[in-house]
This record gives sequence, C-alpha cells and structure tokens, in this order.
Amino acid sequence: MGTKIIGTGSCLPETIVTNDDLAKIMDTSDEWISTRTGIKERHLAKDETTAGMSAAAARKAMENAGVTAQDIDLIIVGTVTADHITPSCACEVQAAIGADNAVAFDINAACSGFMFALNIAHAYLQTGACKTALIIGAETLSKIMDWDDRSTCVLFGDGAGAAVLQKSDRGGLLAFDQGSDGAKGSVLSCADRTNNNPLVKTPRELGYVHMDGQEVYRFAVTTVPQSLTRTIEAAGLSVQDIDYFALHQANIRILQAVAKRLKVSEERLPVSLDHCGNISAASVPILLDEMNRKGLLKPGMKVAMSGFGGGLTWASAVLEW
Ligand code: COA
Repeated sequence: MGTKIIGTGSCLPETIVTNDDLAKIMDTSDEWISTRTGIKERHLAKDETTAGMSAAAARKAMENAGVTAQDIDLIIVGTVTADHITPSCACEVQAAIGADNAVAFDINAACSGFMFALNIAHAYLQTGACKTALIIGAETLSKIMDWDDRSTCVLFGDGAGAAVLQKSDRGGLLAFDQGSDGAKGSVLSCADRTNNNPLVKTPRELGYVHMDGQEVYRFAVTTVPQSLTRTIEAAGLSVQDIDYFALHQANIRILQAVAKRLKVSEERLPVSLDHCGNISAASVPILLDEMNRKGLLKPGMKVAMSGFGGGLTWASAVLEW
C-alpha cells in the first residue's frame, strides 16, 4: 500500500518585490542577486499571515483533491514562522477551514519541513491512524530576516503550499530518506526569546536569521545528491527513471550542481525560485502545485523530491504520481 498525493494548492502574498525594488533600499543589485542565486523577485507579506496563507493553500488542495474539510483527519504544518507560539499554525488552519475531525500540529524542520510532514503523514496513513491527511509548508520568513544583512535577506520570500494525501493501492510514495545533523546547526540559525523570569533578567531581544552561506551551499551540494541517490535506489529505480526532480528552491546554483552530480539535464529540475525566492518549508509544495497545475505530472510518472536546510535537516522521497 502506498501513500498518494491526490491534490495540491498554494498561496503567495499579493505584493511582489523585485531585485530592483530591493536595490532601492539596500546596497545590492539585480545583477548580483540574479547571477548568484537565480532569484528575480519574491512575494512579501503585508496583511497576509502564515495561517491565512496556509488555509488558502489548503482550500485549493482540497478542491484539487475532491475532498471536503470534514474528510481531513490529520493536519501537519511544517513551519518556523507560525503566527503564534500557541495555538499552532495547524490548529489555526483547522479552525479556518472547519476540519473538525482532524488532529493538528506543527513541526519544525526548517526547509525540510514539508518533506518531514510527508513522512509523518505517510506513517499515520499506513498504520490506519488517519485516512486523509493535509500537509502544508508555510512561512512568513520576511518577519525573521535581518533587513540590514544583504547577504541573507535577498534570498527569502513568503508563501504556503499544501497537499492532500490518502492511502492508495498502487504507486504513491516508493521510498524515503531523512536525516539531521544538529552539530552543524549554527550555520543556519535564528534565535528565539531567551530566559526571562524572576531568576534571570535578560533583554527581550528577538533573533533574526543568521546564515553562513558558503557552508550551507557546501552542505546542500553534497548531501542532496547523496540523499536522492539513496532514495532512488531504495525505490528500485535509477536516476534515469526519474521524470522530475522537485527540489527545495534555495538557489539556482545548488540546483545546477545537483543536476551535474546526478548527471541529469537541468530541464528535469523545475524552478520556482526565480519568482518566489527561497520559502523554506513552502518551497517544495509550491513547486509541486505549479507543476501539477501546468499539467506536467501524469499518472505513473516518477518524481524525486528533496528538502534541505536549517537544523541541519534533509529529506528526500520518490513517488509515483
Ligand atoms: N548584494 C551585493 N553584494 C553582496 C550581497 C548582495 N545582496 N550580499 C553579499 N554581497 C557581497 C559581499 O559583501 C561580498 O563582498 P566582498 O567580496 O567585498 O566582501 C561579496 O558579495 C561576496 O560575498 P559572498 O558571501 O562570498 O558571496 P557568495 O558567492 O558566497 O554568495 C550566497 C553568497 C548567499 C548567494 C551563497 O553563499 C549561497 O547561495 N549559499 C547558499 C545559501 C542558501 O541557499 N541558504 C538556504 C539554504 S536552505
């Protein structure tokens, strides 16, 4: 028995901010950002919230899947930028869409969040703990960026992507690979509030994203091809059997390096980072939704997916569409 994605949806904030727009407010240029990252523009939230974008993406995914909110009995949101510490983003989505029968919780695996959610939902579905799962990757990263750090803030955007999953008789998820390396967590980090109580008085300073770009780059171009290769082999397939590689959208140079290491043409790695930037946990489901709505995904096609980022964390999956 497999686990199938039966519907996808996504939501991006209304406001588009181009590289030229950023060049008006900081010392950068379209040329620097485009050549080093492939990013041309990103959507940034004004009134939109992580839960609001998640609920909008969820509604589209449910419509695409042909299920109602009453059918959903599990909601998992991968996010590092929920609107509240509690309630979770998943509980807010549950309330917004009226999925009264669902168990709902968030997970934090940064840019691998959607992929981790996929594996957790797979386990719930396969044990019979749930029948129809809604998984979401959603971020309002712009609120945790240091807008004075031009080497980091230009890379990221806001948005949400969702997928509805059910058990299936054939196809679906064929193999999964997942890992973490907490010892290297400091290369991509964001501090939360610190102890502040009658015993410890500290200023209430909230943290912003701090990244060692070159270390993260090295991690990605080494780990992602290895993880994808392991997953494809575990699925009993070869790299050439994979129709599309739906990878986390961090940087075009990372995608090109992965394509080169796997010896596959870049056309098999669809791109959304040019108009979205890096949206952490939301990148993979937004890309998948774009592929789905463009009609790229046909039944029987093999899709390899991979998420990687903060933690450090990574996760890959091969699924038959
Ligand atoms: N605009 C213009 N110049 C910039 C800039 C910007 N937005 N950001 C940095 N620079 C400058 C630096 O100050 C530096 O100038 P200097 O040489 O005078 O000191 C120069 O550009 C090169 O900086 P460097 O950090 O060495 O660039 P890089 O080639 O390593 O590229 C990244 C930086 C972030 C694009 C690259 O390291 C990367 O893509 N890393 C992976 C990041 C990632 O994907 N993170 C998320 C993973 S989930």
